[in-house]
Amino acid sequence: MSFLTLASLTKAYGSFVAVDGISLAIERGEFVSFLGPSGCGKTTTLQMIAGLTPPTAGTVVLGGRDITQDAPNKRGLGVVFQSYALFPHMTVAENVSFGLEMRKIARAERDRQVADTLSLVRLSEMADRYPRQLSGGQRQRVAVARALVIKPPVLLLDEPLSNLDAKLREEMQFELRRIQQSVGTTTIMVTHDQAEALSISDRVVVMEKGRITQVDAPYRLYEQPATPFISDFVGKMTRLHGIRRAGGVEVAGRLLPAGGDAGEGGAVDLLLRPEKIEFAAAGQGMVDGRVVSRFFFGSYWLFAIETAAGLATVSLPNQDEDVPREGENVALRWAPASARVVSPEGAEP
Ligand SMILES: Nc1ncnc2c1ncn2[C@@H]1O[C@H](COP(=O)(O)OP(=O)(O)OP(=O)(O)O)[C@@H](O)[C@H]1O
Ligand SMILES: [Mg+2]
Repeated sequence: MSFLTLASLTKAYGSFVAVDGISLAIERGEFVSFLGPSGCGKTTTLQMIAGLTPPTAGTVVLGGRDITQDAPNKRGLGVVFQSYALFPHMTVAENVSFGLEMRKIARAERDRQVADTLSLVRLSEMADRYPRQLSGGQRQRVAVARALVIKPPVLLLDEPLSNLDAKLREEMQFELRRIQQSVGTTTIMVTHDQAEALSISDRVVVMEKGRITQVDAPYRLYEQPATPFISDFVGKMTRLHGIRRAGGVEVAGRLLPAGGDAGEGGAVDLLLRPEKIEFAAAGQGMVDGRVVSRFFFGSYWLFAIETAAGLATVSLPNQDEDVPREGENVALRWAPASARVVSPEGAEP
């Protein structure tokens, strides 16, 4: 029996179905991310779990109990919203203490729990400040502390890091994961940032147009995306056009080994991740191309390579400065097993 179960959860606004019968089982202590483009129904789903939006159909079961009809405060879940509003006239400590006061926890115990939680989010020094005296990242951590202090069975986070710059965001991802690991709270985070979902979660739930299209561990999601949408949305993907032949796929006039041989003569695409393609010595590649552009990202280089079969994206770890330049002719190769053969529309042939 899972800890939190969503069964055929649905939300319709008139004839528009925002969330279309999603079912999902989440284990105690799991960190699950909902990933999907704007408008796919992530916030709506979270709000139905929190009890802030009544579902049109379906159920939410927590710890074996159907809570679908329970009021939000009866569910007692910790919630951090897309726009996390702190009480501006209360100090950091008072903001965090608020939920405990509502629960009529005695003063001394309250102070102890507030101190513990502030230390967890590394804000002990800031206890007496007001929200306006904090940076965006510190405010976001207060919001997390406020949700955590009540020791909720489930923590619901809606884009909790969306307002942070890239560096702070990365620090907070580590922080969130650390907190979640040390407290063991079952956590559901909504994000439209695929790197964030992959780095932080035990499992990622991909949503498209109100439906779940894949639920997998980050590594599997990246390596075995279930739909063409997912392969493009999660990470970068190169798509080379070819023709299915006996024993392989013909790409830019060359027969390359590739799995399966059904549908000989039909058009197919080879899907490749940037880090699975490497540069080869002239004449030893599988496809020839020319460097169109080159970007330096510090820890790696990223190249756009024009080939007769389409544009390839290649990444290379930063090991030295001697890498191909824009305009240079290059040869590309990869292990046949790292290329996925799909029909040009994207469905597996
Ligand atoms: N009260 C409402 N009435 C009508 N349509 C709504 C209402 N609330 C949300 N929607 C629609 O439901 C869909 C899902 O909205 P939701 O807020 O869940 O998206 P989201 O995945 O969280 O997107 P974002 O990443 O932009 O936050 C959207 O198309 C939205 O316009
Ligand atoms: Mg949203």
